Amino acid sequence: MLAELACFEQHCRARFPIDEAIYNCAGCGGLLEVVFEVSSKDDRVETALLKKVWRTRRTSNEPLEQSGVWRYRELLPFDGHHHQAVSLREGNTPLLDAPRAARYGGLDGLTFKHQGFNPTGSFKDNGMTCGVTQAIRLDRQRVACVSTGNTSASMAAYASAAGLDSMVFIPHGNISYGKLAQALEYGARTFQVEANFDQILALVRLLADRLGIYLLNSINPFRIEGQKTIIFEMLDQRDWNPPDWIVLPGGNLGNTSAFGKALRELCQFGFIHKLPRLAVIQAEGAAPFYNLMKTKGEFRSVAEPRTLATAIRIGDPVSWPKALHEVTVTNGVVEQVSEQEIADAKAVIGQCGIGCEPASAATLAGIKKLTEAGTIRAEEDVVAVLTGNVLKDPDYIYRYHTGELKDPDGRTIDASLGNRPLVVPNDAEAIAKMLGS
Ligand code: F0G
Repeated sequence: MLAELACFEQHCRARFPIDEAIYNCAGCGGLLEVVFEVSSKDDRVETALLKKVWRTRRTSNEPLEQSGVWRYRELLPFDGHHHQAVSLREGNTPLLDAPRAARYGGLDGLTFKHQGFNPTGSFKDNGMTCGVTQAIRLDRQRVACVSTGNTSASMAAYASAAGLDSMVFIPHGNISYGKLAQALEYGARTFQVEANFDQILALVRLLADRLGIYLLNSINPFRIEGQKTIIFEMLDQRDWNPPDWIVLPGGNLGNTSAFGKALRELCQFGFIHKLPRLAVIQAEGAAPFYNLMKTKGEFRSVAEPRTLATAIRIGDPVSWPKALHEVTVTNGVVEQVSEQEIADAKAVIGQCGIGCEPASAATLAGIKKLTEAGTIRAEEDVVAVLTGNVLKDPDYIYRYHTGELKDPDGRTIDASLGNRPLVVPNDAEAIAKMLGS
């Protein structure tokens, strides 16, 4: 299929070649998306055949077939360029049933699609493999991103695997050590800027233009293409039975854009015949998209976003126009949750033996609110996407369980589900006594 870049703005829809290094429409400044043209008979998407081919590839020892992204390459814009793919065998993330979390969330059943099982521990790897492959296709040697942590960890890994130079820009003091450590270990030049995510994005865009660096934030349409495969893989794992709801956290809203696009394409090509509803969950202190949906007015950014879920501490999400479209098309909803709600939901996900980072737990907190409001019904089929691994933010975990976690206003988060470690003497008798025997 012929792939092109198209302006996302409906009044414009200007087209650009797939190998142009641009992030916004040269005409109107709108966001860009990849579009596919079925131009000849040979381009027809043979749905039944592809479902079989994709399933068979899972058993192959070929590196690209082992990737949960490149396995679905027929719906990615890299025709003829797969041999350049930079893969760390991303994707292949499990669907996990979580009865305890279901009960907590007011559901009969709940499945997590756990993206924390990716090579660098977050869903960013699904997009980054495509973003870095596009950098190679464009012959760029230097790549950069601004990040609340996970994007930088992922970009650093894929850039190093590809032999590229990477530069990450992060808000000083506001990302977890787990993520910062990854960027350093994978060899990225790391700049800690004294500004928030939104301000740094403006800075990095300037630098990227000036120095010819390829930008790998989620404004990059190839990242979004890779993240579509989270949905492809999830539906493949469910034998192409769509759930009623897909619940995910919202920060810069790249994932919401990718999920909506994936669902629309799967419907368009006949892989599925029903669109699941998207439920996007934001943290109360960083909820511009929630406010937009609620007021149905103009988009207003949040100047000083605040949340302990640092991954989604974003006040001016670039992809909001795309996300608005996808939530509307899927008849979706947007909810916001408090710091306490995120912390408790996270502890419950831990108690399932699954675990995730704080931003991911916003999903379960949001589900609880949405079932209480009657928006999601107990018997509905719900998949929540856990976006990051439990070990991304151990500091948060320790503080929660020891009752030391404080919200951005300095109020202590109630450790209602806390599991405090006990300091004991080196004395079997004393320990046995404590254990009740
Ligand atoms: N969950 C995690 C673990 C994240 O790292 C992010 C985003 C999100 C959710 C939100 O996803 O931006 O697509 O709406 N992290 C970015 C970063 C912004 O820089 O790592 P989104």
